[in-house]
Amino acid sequence: MSKRVNIHDLAVGGDGVGRLEDGRVVFVAGAAVDDELLVDITEEKSRYTRGTIIEILSAGDGRRKPLCHHVPRGCGGCDWQHLSEEAQIEGKISLVEDALRKLGNISSPDVGYVAGPEPLRYRTSVRVGVENGRGAYRRAHSHELVQVDDCLIAHPLIDEILLEGFFAEASEVTIKVGARTGDQLVMGEPTAEGFRVPDQVSVIGRNRARKGDEAHIFEEAAGMTWRISARSFFQSSPEGAEMLVALAAEWLTLHDVGEQVLVDLYAGVGLFSGTVGDWFEKVTAIESSASAVADATYNLDSHVTIHRTSVEQWVPELADVVIADPPRSGLRSSGVEVIRKTEAPHVLLVSCDAGALGRDAALMTSAGYELDRVDVLDMFPQTSHVEVVSGWTKNI
Ligand SMILES: C[S@@+](CC[C@H](N)C(=O)[O-])C[C@H]1O[C@@H](n2cnc3c(N)ncnc32)[C@H](O)[C@@H]1O
Repeated sequence: MSKRVNIHDLAVGGDGVGRLEDGRVVFVAGAAVDDELLVDITEEKSRYTRGTIIEILSAGDGRRKPLCHHVPRGCGGCDWQHLSEEAQIEGKISLVEDALRKLGNISSPDVGYVAGPEPLRYRTSVRVGVENGRGAYRRAHSHELVQVDDCLIAHPLIDEILLEGFFAEASEVTIKVGARTGDQLVMGEPTAEGFRVPDQVSVIGRNRARKGDEAHIFEEAAGMTWRISARSFFQSSPEGAEMLVALAAEWLTLHDVGEQVLVDLYAGVGLFSGTVGDWFEKVTAIESSASAVADATYNLDSHVTIHRTSVEQWVPELADVVIADPPRSGLRSSGVEVIRKTEAPHVLLVSCDAGALGRDAALMTSAGYELDRVDVLDMFPQTSHVEVVSGWTKNI
């Protein structure tokens, strides 16, 4: 069924948002604000529908020709390639403002914007599907794969592996590289048997990594060299990691805090503990992943106490500052409850999903915290992904 739709907004997840004559919302992948479109309605629910573009009848001002030749082939790896840089920036700020207003009940959030790394060739870690042994991204809202032998947002060291790699029977591969060290690593899911990659690339199957086999890269960022194992999280580029640390340092300076107790929740391989953590007398890092804890133990010095546990199971200690950088699902009520029990007067929250930020903002407010600063850090150009750093101060 085809319908004419005017797009008036962009939604968390990147789709354009319009309305059908019957009042239902329609989400359209690849749409821009003020587009007038002919769409095929592909999914119908009682409150919303989903459509795909048949024809662009009139293009919104923010639309441009995608830079990457895989986008017209259906690659869903970068969902905002069709938006100009200005439209991407406006879109990200407005996603975060909307989430804070509608989900966080914060009436007029003042959202800052911090430009990210280079707009192309920045990502130092990607996870791709595998089709006939070759790397492939998924189409938007689909499990279908689109083979790619290069990727415009991936670092050239990743491109080399996408171009030359053969990933045999794996269903998925994670590729990590050290932009500043030249290290390259591929992890196959569930196995890396039969892989063919350039000689210098470390290879491991998740099955073997789970049993304790080691494969890691090193990366340099924020004045440190970080060991990052195949299964450990690291920010999407060293520049992005440095920008996050710089924002944290700026916010700590603004509040004149340091020298006391820092709790680093969801600590990963130790990015915050190992950098701004140096300003504190005592640092406690909480992380649930075994490989990230092993890396953090390698990366950090002895003034950081690392607990391998989930945030939810950790018995909270009193803190002066909490930095919390949860996964996409956000803090949720269990994470906010842990923060509340630390009695920390200052909390820096790093959110990688605008919806989760909005929900966490409402929970933080209920726990007695007030938003004192919020910035979108544009770490993922060409995509709708946001990284948001928000500062919270306890009401006295
Ligand atoms: C977004 S990463 C942030 C890592 C680190 N702060 C950094 O900037 O590199 C989130 C981290 O939280 C860890 N994690 C996920 N759920 C957790 C939980 N419930 N408790 C503790 N750690 C968790 C993941 O393993 C991952 O290392």
